[in-house]
Amino acid sequence: MSSQSAESVRARFEEAGQAHVFRFWDELSEGSRASLLEQAEEIDLGELGDLVAKFAAGDGDEGPALAGLEPAPYIPHPRHGGSPEEWAAARRLGEEAIRAGRVGAFTVAGGQGTRLGYDGPKGTFPVTPVTKKTLFQVFAEKIQAAERRYAARIPWFVMTSHANHAATVAAFEGAGYYGLSADRVSFFTQGRMPAVDRNGKILLEAKDRIAMSPDGHGGSLRALVRSGAVAKMRAAGVDTLSYFQVDNPLVRCVDPAFIGFHLRAGSEMSSKMIPKAYPEEKVGHFCRRDGTTVVIEYSDMPMEMQRERDESGRLRFVAGSIAIHILDVGFVARVGGGESGSELLFHRAEKKIPCVGEDGDVVKPEEPNGIKFEMFVFDALPFAENAVIIETLRQDDFSPVKNADGKDSPRSAVEDQLRQFARWVLAVGVELPVDDTGLPAFAFEVSPFFADDEEAFAKRWAALKEKPVIKEGAVLED
Ligand code: UTP
Repeated sequence: MSSQSAESVRARFEEAGQAHVFRFWDELSEGSRASLLEQAEEIDLGELGDLVAKFAAGDGDEGPALAGLEPAPYIPHPRHGGSPEEWAAARRLGEEAIRAGRVGAFTVAGGQGTRLGYDGPKGTFPVTPVTKKTLFQVFAEKIQAAERRYAARIPWFVMTSHANHAATVAAFEGAGYYGLSADRVSFFTQGRMPAVDRNGKILLEAKDRIAMSPDGHGGSLRALVRSGAVAKMRAAGVDTLSYFQVDNPLVRCVDPAFIGFHLRAGSEMSSKMIPKAYPEEKVGHFCRRDGTTVVIEYSDMPMEMQRERDESGRLRFVAGSIAIHILDVGFVARVGGGESGSELLFHRAEKKIPCVGEDGDVVKPEEPNGIKFEMFVFDALPFAENAVIIETLRQDDFSPVKNADGKDSPRSAVEDQLRQFARWVLAVGVELPVDDTGLPAFAFEVSPFFADDEEAFAKRWAALKEKPVIKEGAVLED
């Protein structure tokens, strides 16, 4: 960068009251100056200024409006009163779309995974009970299993962050794209936002580095547009995206019934819900407000509301969000392209952000000292026409790896996979010792190539001349 353009960047920062970002400039090497400028150029100072002003004025701090909030309607699962015929018809419609090559898979994998404390992209975390396949491998195999079943091409889009992009691509390359053909997988990096202190001043994490973090899973919509992924989808005839998070090994990556319900309704964004297990469960709630669908986070809904029950004694706000969606590609283009009136708002989160002090030394704060800004993908729901919500079974779709131990941990995810495999095995009449939670007495594994749901398992099992013995360490492969 010429010294002239360096001057103009610095002048813009000065004008925005952020000149301190360059306070160590005179000490920096040429290389450090260049990388600091590159980061600085990425920042939309106008957007940041608006955010700081908004939050400083207290706007947006009070949480979402709760007046007039109603529980959102959803399509019940056949096990809970849904119509089996309706589900079968939706499934056929979804299958048709998959066969026609209209469906792509989309994984958001740009998170920082701080709670898990694993060093590396979360998708490279080993999750299966016996062979310790990684999350990326599990998804890749589920996608391939669907490709085989429907004789279809299913492109896979993976959103990374600046911090994990290179390591993610390297992991795919190192693993031979987990059996997928490389031209079917696209990676793109999400945007970042600078962290600020309580006065709205941008924080430095080193003398030559701004504290930047990914702009949230909601940043995926604009990243899909900016990266050219949307254009790529359109060129390939993909108009429907199956969105899921990188941390959930149970997710059905390509679920034909879900896709079918979405298409049948002409929905722009559809969601899966699970009934909350108990009022305090920390999931967002699907609600309706002013004719639109919204997700109200557990932290934004008063506990007495979360405890409300209907006449039948059921939780009134029962529909928990598990971050599984179908997105219409035209909708992504509209919202992600920043078409006016449909911008996602940023949320603020107070965090402990290591940063350099006046003397240039890095301080690791004990208490939250700054603010990060993130967008949430479910904030796109109010902009979606005909948003559909369907019920799914937690046991077959949701067991996230969030924490190092306890709830939503590697261990609970292994156990939930084991319970699922055990259910499939028991359903074909094989005897298996399980405890009263359905957990088998030993670890074994079913590869997605062998079967990826109970019905596929039963079919595959019935077709086997010699039935394998289900014992400790058994792996049912392709
Ligand atoms: P989480 O809310 O669990 O956040 O992300 P996280 O950053 O992964 O983990 P913690 O909170 O630091 O422990 C849910 C999903 O959204 C993705 C994550 O990769 C995960 O799949 N995500 C989150 C992004 O892709 N980008 C983001 O900026 C944030």
